Amino acid sequence: MQYKILLSTLALLASCTVGQDTSLATVMNAFNTANIPTDAQINFNPSVLLEVAFPQAAGRPVQVHAGIQLPRNATAIPPTFSVRDRAFSPRQEFVVAMVDLDAPTPQTPTSAQIRHFLGGNFHTVPSLGDQERLVNETQAISNFLQPTPPAGSDPHRYVFLLFEQPNGFNQQTLVTGNTSIANFNISSFASEVGLGNPIGGSFILVGPDPTTA
Ligand SMILES: *[C@@H]1O[C@H](CO)[C@@H](O)[C@H](O)[C@H]1NC(C)=O
Ligand SMILES: *[C@@H]1O[C@H](CO)[C@@H](O)[C@H](O)[C@H]1NC(C)=O
Ligand SMILES: *[C@@H]1O[C@H](CO)[C@@H](O)[C@H](O)[C@H]1NC(C)=O
Ligand SMILES: *[C@@H]1O[C@H](CO)[C@@H](O)[C@H](O)[C@H]1NC(C)=O
Repeated sequence: MQYKILLSTLALLASCTVGQDTSLATVMNAFNTANIPTDAQINFNPSVLLEVAFPQAAGRPVQVHAGIQLPRNATAIPPTFSVRDRAFSPRQEFVVAMVDLDAPTPQTPTSAQIRHFLGGNFHTVPSLGDQERLVNETQAISNFLQPTPPAGSDPHRYVFLLFEQPNGFNQQTLVTGNTSIANFNISSFASEVGLGNPIGGSFILVGPDPTTA
């Protein structure tokens, strides 16, 4: 009986921690191995762990570690973000982006990048331990779009990037809710609105739904 309780406690502890990245070096290696800095033309030298979780209609959220492959149906609900390992001023605001580098296919990404999310005015709220949740104070510029690789495609890389928000970001008009989500370039956007290099990131792989493939 006690053994069973111990086991289920261990399983619970494991499910709380397993899945998330615990080291910046691991995240950087995963980005490099997947050729993301080259393909997205970004300098990726993170100073903070960006944790991404996909809430589920039933059960616990799916925790992302950089490079995990998720079934498309686990990505239906907009993800939540948090940071770890670095104390920020409560006044610091952040921009979060999610882009698909592989549309329509990794072999011929002619419409990449697709902007799956772009939101500013996130700030940190203390959570468990050294974890801080990123909470948005305004509507996103581009609302979350569920990954939808076309039938027959290999899995796509969906990349999450965290930036420190510069003053005046809310006045930028380069990208609005009316700007096409296709052929986006996070590198040139970041440089034109002064986001600098991403301070954290993660990514998932998602293939087509088995029902469409
Ligand atoms: C996703 O689909 C698979 C089978 O196609 C199923 O086993 C699983 O429960 C589904 N997950 C969700 C979150 O709907
Ligand atoms: C934060 O983002 C969510 C999802 O896009 C949105 O529904 C919500 O209204 C936003 N919060 C505020 C305060 O604008
Ligand atoms: C998008 O375009 C519509 C119609 O031209 C306009 O009314 C609206 O203000 C625009 N929205 C943004 C965010 O620029
Ligand atoms: C994206 O922007 C970067 C930096 O501005 C530029 O070097 C690169 O050529 C652009 N990529 C594409 C595909 O246009």
